[in-house]
Amino acid sequence: MSDTDDSRLEAALAAIAGAADGDALEAQRIAALGKQGWVSLALKTLGAMSAEERLVAGPRIQAMRAAVAEAIAERKKALDSKALEAQLASEVLDLTLPAPATPRGTVHPVSQVMDELAEVFADMGFSVATGPEIEDDWHNFTALNMPESHPARAMHDTFYFPDEGAERTFDRAPNSRRTLLRTHTSPVQIRSMVEHGAPLRIIAPGRVYRSDSDATHTPMFHQVEGLVIDEGIHLGHLKWTLETFLKAFFERDDIVLRLRPSYFPFTEPSVEVDVGFAIENGRRVLGGSGDAPGHAWMELLGSGMVNRRVIEMSGLDPDRWQGFAFGVGVDRLAMLKYGMDDLRAFFDGDARWLAHYGFSPFDQPTLSGGVGARA
Ligand code: PHE
Repeated sequence: MSDTDDSRLEAALAAIAGAADGDALEAQRIAALGKQGWVSLALKTLGAMSAEERLVAGPRIQAMRAAVAEAIAERKKALDSKALEAQLASEVLDLTLPAPATPRGTVHPVSQVMDELAEVFADMGFSVATGPEIEDDWHNFTALNMPESHPARAMHDTFYFPDEGAERTFDRAPNSRRTLLRTHTSPVQIRSMVEHGAPLRIIAPGRVYRSDSDATHTPMFHQVEGLVIDEGIHLGHLKWTLETFLKAFFERDDIVLRLRPSYFPFTEPSVEVDVGFAIENGRRVLGGSGDAPGHAWMELLGSGMVNRRVIEMSGLDPDRWQGFAFGVGVDRLAMLKYGMDDLRAFFDGDARWLAHYGFSPFDQPTLSGGVGARA
């Protein structure tokens, strides 16, 4: 028996060492160690042996089993490393090839313009302030000198939250505060004065909401508020600031402003600011006086000297502190600067529109590099 087994073992070890691949090796394993394999069958014969016979045959058969198992493990290792080598040889990685293009998002024109505004005004010493989009009627209206009877407070213009919400969130009496989606960024004027006092130089870009919807109005749009509070501030500071801002933002030295008397409850006097423009290739291009041939005036923003009642309601002494404020539509600025004509497309979320009008996230606006991004 032992001679047959010896030659069998020899043959098996040779077959294992010569197995060409994983499948051939597996076949050898089954032939030897499988349920019906010759090693397994040899192990079974031990049961029928006498104790003395088993003492001799047992260790022998166990040694054969160990030798076969070891040979299989060894061959498997060799085959694996051969397979890896073959894979490495066939899959050559050419590091000089250009990287595959990964789709990259773009910066929305509104975000781009807000960054440009922050950059332009930072250069003039303004910091960026923010306020909540869910505002209360005191900050949005009352403290801005807009009395109960003001038409802007009407339901058809303004998105109010149900009264019950106000009951839970605010003290209703004596100064009831209803919540609404802010209709302008002007409440940030109040919040900034209340929180930081004077002097103050801020811009406040953000979303605002009005019950309005057509080609030039969307229920949500963007404004940027500006506020300067200091001693001895007058209308000349307002005009210089707006002129400097518009020249830097539109990257043109020939921007001409026209100040027209207007009315806002929170400024006194109030001025509407127009800019001169001409039509070039079907596009409005700012620059030059609106009275020049081929030119016209376009209303761009509202502004004025902060009403002393507003300064007072914000907890400052209006005999010591004066200031000016302005509010501009950010979407409008973006359309004018970058030549889009339908406001609604701004908020459709169409990836093709964004790919066309969006900006590279790596092209940060700076005054030295030019705030206008190259699309
Ligand atoms: N809040 C005004 C609006 O939305 C704009 C404005 C801001 C006017 C600041 C004057 C001063 O129309």
